[in-house]
Amino acid sequence: MRTGHSLLIAFLVLLPAGRAAAQDIDSGKKLFARCAACHNAETTANKVGPHLNGVIGRAAAAVEGFNYSPAMKQAAAGGLVWDDAALHEYLANPKAKVPGTKMVFPGLKKEKEIDDLLAYLASVSG
Ligand code: HEC
Repeated sequence: MRTGHSLLIAFLVLLPAGRAAAQDIDSGKKLFARCAACHNAETTANKVGPHLNGVIGRAAAAVEGFNYSPAMKQAAAGGLVWDDAALHEYLANPKAKVPGTKMVFPGLKKEKEIDDLLAYLASVSG
């Protein structure tokens, strides 16, 4: 019983330390269906929303020719960069992270979903 427990704990501790696994990218690709009405990730064409190719590490409101909301432009002027932490906050609750954003999306409630989505976005960014 004791050995079983410590093995389980070792497994749970090691799990999140690994890099994005193929199944995370796969799951992220499926989750991207919730974004795809408004965003492209694999190409640099804008839709209702700006393209997300290379978004990780990109400054906010940086896609040329996309008409961002005043709120997003203001956040960008304040230094907002889409690093892992900022993306987690924005995707969990867009209107809390950038009040006044015109992205109409309720947010992803599970951290794991956001992790998978970011693994997918990273995998398709050139
Ligand atoms: C109903 C349309 C819609 C949906 C669905 C949507 N978005 Fe957006 N998204 C937008 C719009 C519009 C903007 C521009 C926001 C602004 O200017 O305030 C945006 C902005 C963003 C930005 C900031 C980009 C930048 O260049 O600064 C990210 C990141 C983003 N969306 C990710 C996502 C992800 C990931 C999903 C799915 C989980 C998603 N969005 C779902 C419309 C949408």
